[in-house]
Amino acid sequence: MAEKKPLKRPEDLRSHRWFGVNDLRSFAHRARMKQMGYAREEFSGRPVIAIVNTWSDINPCHAHLRERAEDVKRGILQAGGFPLELPAMSLAEPFVKPTTMLYRNFLAMETEELLRSHPVDGAVLLGGCDKTTPGLLMGAISMNLPAIFVPAGPMLNGNWEGRPLGMGSDTWKYWNELRAGKITEQDWEEIENGIAPSHGHCQVMGTASTMTAIAEALGMTLTGASSIPAPDSNHPRMCASAGRRSVEMVWQDQKPRDIMSTESVDNAITVHMALGGSTNAIIHLIAMARRAGIDLTLSRFDEISRRTPVIANLRPAGEFLMEDFYYAGGLPAFMTCLRDLLTLTCMTVTGKTLGENIARAKVHNPDIIRTLENSIYAEGATAVLQGNLAPGGCVMKPAAAEAKFLIHRGPALVFRDYNHMAAEIDRDDLDVTEDTVLVLQNAGPQGGPGMPEWGMLPIPKKLLAKGVRDMLRISDSRMSGTSYGACILHVAPESFTGGPLALVETGDMIETDVANRRIHLDVSDEQLNQRRRRWSALPPRYERGYGKLFSNHVSQADKGCDFDFLEDGFPTPDPEIH
Ligand code: FES
Repeated sequence: MAEKKPLKRPEDLRSHRWFGVNDLRSFAHRARMKQMGYAREEFSGRPVIAIVNTWSDINPCHAHLRERAEDVKRGILQAGGFPLELPAMSLAEPFVKPTTMLYRNFLAMETEELLRSHPVDGAVLLGGCDKTTPGLLMGAISMNLPAIFVPAGPMLNGNWEGRPLGMGSDTWKYWNELRAGKITEQDWEEIENGIAPSHGHCQVMGTASTMTAIAEALGMTLTGASSIPAPDSNHPRMCASAGRRSVEMVWQDQKPRDIMSTESVDNAITVHMALGGSTNAIIHLIAMARRAGIDLTLSRFDEISRRTPVIANLRPAGEFLMEDFYYAGGLPAFMTCLRDLLTLTCMTVTGKTLGENIARAKVHNPDIIRTLENSIYAEGATAVLQGNLAPGGCVMKPAAAEAKFLIHRGPALVFRDYNHMAAEIDRDDLDVTEDTVLVLQNAGPQGGPGMPEWGMLPIPKKLLAKGVRDMLRISDSRMSGTSYGACILHVAPESFTGGPLALVETGDMIETDVANRRIHLDVSDEQLNQRRRRWSALPPRYERGYGKLFSNHVSQADKGCDFDFLEDGFPTPDPEIH
C-alpha cells in the first residue's frame, strides 16, 4: 500500500553526512574508517547497513547469529552496500533475571539509539528469543530507517524415548509428572538431555515462534523466514538474501512506517490467533503498533479472536512442533489458508505485497496446517475478559484450558507475592480443592518487577497426587508462551499500584464466563471501598538505575508496557554532525 518513491542518490544517503562532505569532521570519519583498513570507495556513496546482532555467549537461541551476521554481510556486499555489525543486548530468556521483560524496552532504546547515533542508512535486525523480536522492531519502528528483521529460527525437535519434546511445554508437563511420582529422576535427566537438541529458539508455538510469525505477517521479514529451523541450510541463504534486500530498501527508501499499517497489524493479530500463539504477543504487538502511531487496544484482539479459528496444530495448544510446521509449508502456506481473513494488498519488506509473497505457497500436511473448516479450535486462541476485577482487561487462552473452567465460580486462595506462593503451594494442609481459584498478587509490570512469567501457578502438590492437572489461576503477571492451562493473565491495572486484584481476599468468590468475556469478584462495592481505604502501597521495587527508570515510566499491560516517553508523538532529531 506504500506509495512508490523515487530512488535515492548517493548524496541523499544519511551516511553521506558522515563520509561524503568535505569538511574537518568528515576527514576524521574517513581517516578512522581507513584506519580499520577500508578504502573510501568501500563505505562512501554506498548504503551503510547496520547489522544489529543480539548474539551472545549466554544465549543458546542465538548461538548461530555470530555466523549468520557473516551471511548477512555477504549479501550486503554483493548488493553494493557496506555492512557494520553492532552488538546489542542479547536478552537470553532462560538466564536474564528477574525477567527479560524488564529489559525489552532497554533493547528497544538501545536499537533506536544505535541506529540514530551511527552513520547508517538501513538495518538488518538479528533476533528471535522472546523479547528480542519486539525490542528490535520497536526501536527500528521509532527510528524509521529501512529495516528488515531476520528471525533466528526454531531449534530442531527434541526427543525422549522416541517421543517428540518441545522446550517449555514438555518441561512443565514432565515436571508435574515428576512431582506426581509418575516418572523417575533418571527419566527427568534424559528429558533434560533431549529437549534442546540444537541452537535456535524454542520449537513450540511459544512467544518466540509467535513473535517471529507476527514479524513476518506484518511484512517485516522475507517470505517464509520465520519458519526455517535455525540449523537448516536455508537459514544462512535467507540471511544473505536479507542482506541483499536491505541495500535495495535503502535506495527505495522503504521504511518500517511504510509497512506498518492498521491493516498489517490486523493481519498480524489474525495470524497470532490462528496459530494459537502466545499471550505475551498481545503486549508486544500493542507496543509495536503504538510506536508506529497505531492506537491498538485489547478489544481489537478480542474482535479478531472471535472470527478466527485456530488452524495450526502446534504445541502447546496442539500436537506438533516448529520443524514439522516448516515441512508442512511454514507460515506462507499457513497464510494461504487465512486468505479470506487477511488484507493481501499490504506492502512488505520484499517490495511486494503479502498476497504476491504467498501466491505460490502450498500446504504439504493438512493435519498440521488445517483449513478454516477443519480447525483445531473454532474460536480464536485468546479471549479478553473484563469486569470489576480487571477494569483495564485481562487475557486467557481458552484453547489451552480445560473446558470446565470456561465458566466457573470458586473461592479465591490469595498469595500476596511469588515467594508467599512458593512457600505455601506444596503444603499438605493447604486449604484447596480443584474448584479453588488461585490468585497471585504483585506480579505485574511494577510489582514483579517486570511482569515475570509466573501466571501458570503450579498446581498444589496434594491435588497433583489426586490427578488434578488444571485449575483456574488469576494474576497480573504473564505466562510463558510455552505454558498452558486455565490461567487468566495481564490483569490491569496491576495490584502493586492498587488495582482491584490487590483487594481480593482468600475466600472471596470469583466468577468467570469466557463466552461472555466476563470476570467478576463477587464482593460488594461498599466492601471493596472499605478494603481500598485500608490498602497501602508496598515500597518501590527500585530506588536507582534502570529499574527506577522502568518503574517510573512503564505503562500497564493493556497499553503494551512501553515507556511513556518512547511512544509515538515525540520527534527525536537526527544528531548534528559536528
Ligand atoms: Fe529463547 Fe525460548 S528461551 S526462545
